[in-house]
Amino acid sequence: MGYKDQIDLLKLPRHVAIIMDGNGRWAKGKGKLRVFGHHNGVLSVRDVVEGSCEIGLEYLTLYTFSSENWNRPKLEVMAIMELLVSTIPKEIETFMKNNVRLNAIGELSMLPPKCHKELINVINKTSVNNGLTLTLALSYSSRREIVQAAKAIALKVQEGRLAIDDIDEEIFESNLYTGNMPDPELLIRTSGEFRISNYLLWQIAYAELYFTNKLWPDFRREDFFEAIADYQKRERRFGLISEQVN
Ligand code: FPP
Repeated sequence: MGYKDQIDLLKLPRHVAIIMDGNGRWAKGKGKLRVFGHHNGVLSVRDVVEGSCEIGLEYLTLYTFSSENWNRPKLEVMAIMELLVSTIPKEIETFMKNNVRLNAIGELSMLPPKCHKELINVINKTSVNNGLTLTLALSYSSRREIVQAAKAIALKVQEGRLAIDDIDEEIFESNLYTGNMPDPELLIRTSGEFRISNYLLWQIAYAELYFTNKLWPDFRREDFFEAIADYQKRERRFGLISEQVN
């Protein structure tokens, strides 16, 4: 029995977030340049997106490029940006066929203009879809996201549009980039690293964490289904005791 058959489709997480890690090591292990790993990582993205559509997942959020990644060697940064420019438009047809709505979070204005333009174009074209919302975290830093939310709230208070006493978790959340999405119930990280790396820090407060040794270019939908099946075996207590949640 494959992992897909072990998944209870009535108890799917609504939102899965992934830290796609290990592209560089995967390439190095094959005696190739790091960029080769990123290119092969795209195949994993495609397969996991298709797998998400297959089971009817609502939200998939992929850590594609962090704010810190800008400090990598210039050639690698350029290669990743070019990869995005060449990949994203090519996916339109598959997105339309699978009813996928593309979305992006992060400091998108930092992206090279061509990359930004292609991204916005596909986001606009797929905005009519209402199946999977595929969010790419690009030039993303969770701490910066939280700081910009604090600033946006402070501005509303300064302008008299919001009272300090009305600031609560819901208001705070609605000022994050992910304001219109449910929090991820499951966070997957590949490549055997046990870190969160400045990703969705607010949003993963109650997420189940799943770590696998597989490097991202080796990760396929069957591995994704395995992670979801594992998630479904867990008891989520949200601070309560077992008897209360059962
Ligand atoms: C992490 O591996 C991966 C990245 C920083 C880039 C991820 C980008 C892709 C998989 C391409 C995505 C494309 C689309 C269309 C979403 P790493 O380079 O940190 O690997 P390492 O830890 O082994 O060095």
